[in-house]
Amino acid sequence: MDIDYLKLKEKYNTPLYVYDKSVINDKIHKLKDNFKSNLYKTEIIYASKAFSVKEMLRVIMDKGLSLDTVSIGEIYTAINVGFDLNKIYFHGNNKSYDDLVFALNNNVGTIVVDNYMELLLLDEVAKSLNKVQKIMIRLNLGIEAHTHKYIVTSHVDSKFGVLYNSDDYKNMINFINNSNNIKLIGFHSHIGSQIFELDAYKAEIEKLIRISKEFSYPLELNLGGGFGAFYTNEDKPIPLDEVAKFLVKTTDEVLNKENAKIAKLLIEPGRSIVAEAGTTLYTIGVIKKTPNKEYYFIDGGMTDNIRPALYQAKYDAFIVGKENDERSHTVTIAGKCCESGDLIIEDYKLPPATSGDLLVTKTTGAYGYAMSSNYNKALTPAVVFVDEDNDYLVVKRQSLKELIEREI
Ligand code: LLP
Repeated sequence: MDIDYLKLKEKYNTPLYVYDKSVINDKIHKLKDNFKSNLYKTEIIYASKAFSVKEMLRVIMDKGLSLDTVSIGEIYTAINVGFDLNKIYFHGNNKSYDDLVFALNNNVGTIVVDNYMELLLLDEVAKSLNKVQKIMIRLNLGIEAHTHKYIVTSHVDSKFGVLYNSDDYKNMINFINNSNNIKLIGFHSHIGSQIFELDAYKAEIEKLIRISKEFSYPLELNLGGGFGAFYTNEDKPIPLDEVAKFLVKTTDEVLNKENAKIAKLLIEPGRSIVAEAGTTLYTIGVIKKTPNKEYYFIDGGMTDNIRPALYQAKYDAFIVGKENDERSHTVTIAGKCCESGDLIIEDYKLPPATSGDLLVTKTTGAYGYAMSSNYNKALTPAVVFVDEDNDYLVVKRQSLKELIEREI
């Protein structure tokens, strides 16, 4: 969809997160239409950590997806929009007693248990509240997907999950067999993020199905998320319809080969649903030349997009109204933080700019706004959704008053 960024700047000012709702809908439909099997049920869970604001959760709810949460803050946001709590999965490697009480009191459907200590704590909480809690166990299958090293989660020393067949694993299964308050419905695994190779998922499916055969009843298997998005030409993401078809086909084949049955197959994408729907609109201020560089300074930076500083993530950008001009300048787009690493794109070709031009960075919809901060006391930007010709505010820009309202 063509977005009128000049109009959005007039109306909402910059820096501004802009989400194209048609892209979100399209991604969801590509998954929904193809993640289906005759052999078992299927379920798509949106990983809300990628972008969890009320309007986004409403979209997810309208489309009938479930929700992955990792904190009571994310659960609280879901409760606030009236999300069906039964469709919520609660993750996390260090859930506290209070977290678990909050989740169980609010009837969160499934707790994804990360470790043995958590299982004991959960049993205690469930017993005291007189509940039987459905759980999945998060397994570390030791599969390392090919991706950026900071976001790989499944190597053997990962902080996430329990290693299959370790003593902790065996103790957990024994404990569950003797517990009246915990019901194991299946296993979860997440093998990384921004993955372009489907082979790793095949290995994951094979391992999970073999493990599930050790149980006398059909289990649910959650493959996690991690499907890649397109940021720059270096990225070759596989279209989501193909990803969904591959996962189902591979699962069907392995089930046949292993003569096994499962109750349900689940996936948990975050980035692949929202990343490409989001752009960030900035105003260029100062243009500075140094002996070897030309800088375009923008009115945001690492406080609204930490990913370049944290992961050396790459982005594409354009200047509004100069889309077809020759990209004759090699420039560095830098933010306004008091920090040399506050660069959004380094040594990048753009047309000559003048102060006041609008710059748009693309594919900022996942882990952008979600990871924003108030470093240097920057104000968190506003967020708008664009739906056909209609644009509407979904998060107000933070005000100076709000910035210090919790300070005493
Ligand atoms: N499920 C679990 C258990 C996860 O840990 C994650 C992401 C997802 C699902 C969703 O993964 P996705 O489909 O979005 O790749 N901040 C980093 C990404 C961290 C991902 C953490 N876990 C970034 O900006 O690249």
